[in-house]
Amino acid sequence: MSMMDQDILKVLYTQEEIAARVKELGAQMYEDFKGKDPLFVSVLRGAFIFMADIVRACQVKSDVEFIAVSSYGNATTSSGAVQITHDIQQDISGRNLVVIEDILDSGNTLSFLKQYFLTKGAASVAICTLLDKPSRRTKVITADYIGFTVPDEFVVGYGLDYCQKYRNLPYIGVLKPEVYSGE
Ligand code: IMP
Ligand code: MG
Repeated sequence: MSMMDQDILKVLYTQEEIAARVKELGAQMYEDFKGKDPLFVSVLRGAFIFMADIVRACQVKSDVEFIAVSSYGNATTSSGAVQITHDIQQDISGRNLVVIEDILDSGNTLSFLKQYFLTKGAASVAICTLLDKPSRRTKVITADYIGFTVPDEFVVGYGLDYCQKYRNLPYIGVLKPEVYSGE
């Protein structure tokens, strides 16, 4: 057991379960995007690991971009205001975008980004989220590709953080409440 493992209450998805699901999503997206020259846009930092795995699971001719956003709020919830802290580096007009996100929670981040990319002229914007937490949605938005639907618990690992830590856990788990109860 690593020091990080000791902070985990329970494992929701093992490394093997995630890999199997990523493979399925990649195959599904391959059918939908072959010949469409999609642009995969990863939302930093949470989606960096999922991005690396999903683009290799989806062998379409494509390119990648990264966007970083910050939303005001405390460590476990986001507020409505989304700010771009690092923008994509190319013209996206006419492109078919696939936004790769770690988790769709309130929906603030992805509803903002979807609108932002459409305003910039994207031909289409699909959303691929590793996790969906529909119970906490405040914006009307759904993902086109969902890895797993999760209950209303704070999860970490496989890119997802608590106070920037735990992103490098190879599995997805629920953090022990005492780890963040001091918040
Ligand atoms: P939304 O804007 O509320 O949909 O939340 C999106 C962002 O909140 C995600 O990209 C995550 O960074 C963060 N987030 C929401 N729920 C969790 C969680 O359970 N664990 C870790 N990060 C989370
Ligand atoms: Mg985060």
